[in-house]
Amino acid sequence: MPRTTISVINADVGSFPGHSRTHPKLLETAAQMLKSERGKLLTDSFVTHCGDSLELIMMHTRGIYNEEIHRLAGNVFMECTKVAKSLKLYEAGQDMPAGAFAGNVRGMGPGVAEMEFEERESDPVLIYMADKAGPGAWNFYLYKIFADPFNTPGLVIDPSLHEGFVFEVHDLVGKRKISFACPEESYNLLACVGAPSRYIIRHVFKKDGTIAASTSTRRLNKETGQVMGEDDPVMIVRAQDGFPSMGEAIEPFTIPVLVAGWMRGSHHGPFMPVGLCDANCTRFDGPPRVICLGFQVTNGTLIGPADMFDDPGFDRVRARCNKLADTIRAQGPFEPHRLSREEMEYTTLPAVEKALELRWEPLGE
Ligand code: F6R
Ligand code: MG
Repeated sequence: MPRTTISVINADVGSFPGHSRTHPKLLETAAQMLKSERGKLLTDSFVTHCGDSLELIMMHTRGIYNEEIHRLAGNVFMECTKVAKSLKLYEAGQDMPAGAFAGNVRGMGPGVAEMEFEERESDPVLIYMADKAGPGAWNFYLYKIFADPFNTPGLVIDPSLHEGFVFEVHDLVGKRKISFACPEESYNLLACVGAPSRYIIRHVFKKDGTIAASTSTRRLNKETGQVMGEDDPVMIVRAQDGFPSMGEAIEPFTIPVLVAGWMRGSHHGPFMPVGLCDANCTRFDGPPRVICLGFQVTNGTLIGPADMFDDPGFDRVRARCNKLADTIRAQGPFEPHRLSREEMEYTTLPAVEKALELRWEPLGE
């Protein structure tokens, strides 16, 4: 049996109204293009959206970073851009390069989370997709799922989890990586990933090297000052039987956490777990939101999806997120609702400050 690869690749190639949601015609175009690859490049696929982000879930046997799979995703986004342009959707082709498409989505606008593994007897997988949240949004949740026994009792009572997990952390500014074994190094891990604007948990492994979780990482484009394609991170988590259970992997989303993103990628806001029918951004272009689809991975196909946050069990956190949104929105353009000075470097604020540069005078004290 060949190893199975899951590639989740997403991009905002146009939405309506404004940056709110993906048009059904784009979803249809993408779904048809991927379906026609079944039995060729792909073993299965599923297409959905979170807010303005079009999400391609692709199953295959070609491993991660595969050029043909990435080219297929790029071609889907190019076709969807054409549809978006014909409908004059907002920011059609936002995450695509202005010039010719070179064929690989890595390092471009689209976000990529991938993992390759040997299927277990039965293999539950959860795919989380967010909009209006920065790339470090998963740090808190991955720590809770794979390192916090108050969230995941399996770490204490299940021998197959008891050894703990290894976290691979990427420094998005220094462009370097480091690994921390937990529970031994949990304080070092937290010292880094508590700063999610710079340090991102990219992968989680079992101690024997088996992949447990993968995320997408991208950084705002400092040169152009644009927030393009940086607010819709995705994450893949394997569950059960040697990994945290499905319930342990969604439990931390009952905590209302503030993440960077929201309006203009420049504000902190509550990360709200929602069902698919609510995967549309409205209030103040948000609030930041996350959906989670559950699948059984069966011989390279996806059995599902199950809409994990479409459950009254998450009503209370949604209400608490709304309360938090009211509280923090009242601060208007003031920090900490607005991101810190340092983080605002990646937004359009520097252009405003530049215009004031010549007007500043020395204090002369
Ligand atoms: C944030 C987002 C929106 C836009 C905002 C301004 O990721 O997509 O909040 O930043 O609507 O959009 P423009 O600059 O296109 O008018
Ligand atoms: Mg978006």
